[in-house]
Amino acid sequence: MTILSVKNLVKTYKRRKTRELLTAVDNVSMDIQNGEIFALLGPNGAGKTTTIKAICGLLLPDGGDITVMGKDVVKQRGVALHHISAVLEGNRNLYYRLTPVENIIYFCGIRGQKIKRNEVMTLLETFGIAEKANDLVQQLSRGMQQKAAIVNVLATRAEVLLLDEPTLGLDVTSAIELRKLMREIVSRHDRTILLSTHYMNLVEAVADRVAIMNNGKIVVCEKKEKLMKLFRARTYRIRLTEVSEGTMDMFSTLDPRDIHKENGFIDFTVDLRNQEVLFELVEIVRESRARIESIEQEQVNFERIFLKYINDH
Ligand SMILES: Nc1ncnc2c1ncn2[C@@H]1O[C@H](COP(=O)(O)OP(=O)(O)OP(=O)(O)O)[C@@H](O)[C@H]1O
Ligand SMILES: [Mg+2]
Repeated sequence: MTILSVKNLVKTYKRRKTRELLTAVDNVSMDIQNGEIFALLGPNGAGKTTTIKAICGLLLPDGGDITVMGKDVVKQRGVALHHISAVLEGNRNLYYRLTPVENIIYFCGIRGQKIKRNEVMTLLETFGIAEKANDLVQQLSRGMQQKAAIVNVLATRAEVLLLDEPTLGLDVTSAIELRKLMREIVSRHDRTILLSTHYMNLVEAVADRVAIMNNGKIVVCEKKEKLMKLFRARTYRIRLTEVSEGTMDMFSTLDPRDIHKENGFIDFTVDLRNQEVLFELVEIVRESRARIESIEQEQVNFERIFLKYINDH
């Protein structure tokens, strides 16, 4: 079931000095399904935060429709936003002079939701920050603050959680813990997560689906596994022996990369877009009089997928 739907979202900003218009989000559409972790992946300035801010009603879109559980975020703001809770990037998502427990009670309170102290403690325990429950937020480390902010949105019963750059500024251990936490939130607490990030490894670790965004547009939106499979099938590492001076030049039409030469061997990687390219490769090897030592399918990492889409658009 679609829980959050974004249709043809447009948001433009006016540059302060020149009054020139900048289209930060350019006709973005996506349907997010109940119970999934959907990642918006894109470089700095792609429009991720703008999209998230429009979804949680902090920005008024210039065009398009956003609905959560069928309610329009602009026209039925009150009811729609009840289903959404967000942790924004860089913002102070919690009151620094309150404790995590007080924050949770406060934020639930303004939504008209009563939450018992022991319920709050159970949540904080689940996420390993119970011992900081009664310290002021300003005294917590960056990682703890981020966890507390996420527990805070989880405590509200909103079905859709928006997490903008949730692992920004976290050390490796905290970032890994946070990934686990996100998976738990969807499986045990029955929520849906839309997250934005520019970290490929976060996407690789947690996302069910991913939309790659660049220059305000979604350039691809696919199940993560499908994207990985697609690229795994395409990328080959080739090792040739008995090579001569000009061998590598003969392969230039295949756009080889990561070329490595050593003791009469040449290794390089090619993307085989289709069967034809494979035949072409074999043909060139034959002409070059080199010998194929090995052809192996490369493990893909998300970084390659990302760069490929970003550079092509
Ligand atoms: N308040 C604003 N006024 C003018 N331009 C803005 C404003 N906020 C964002 N922009 C511009 O809109 C574009 C998209 O910005 P946005 O913050 O949505 O990108 P992002 O994908 O979240 O980037 P990052 O990875 O750096 O967080 C950028 O070119 C940015 O400079
Ligand atoms: Mg951002």
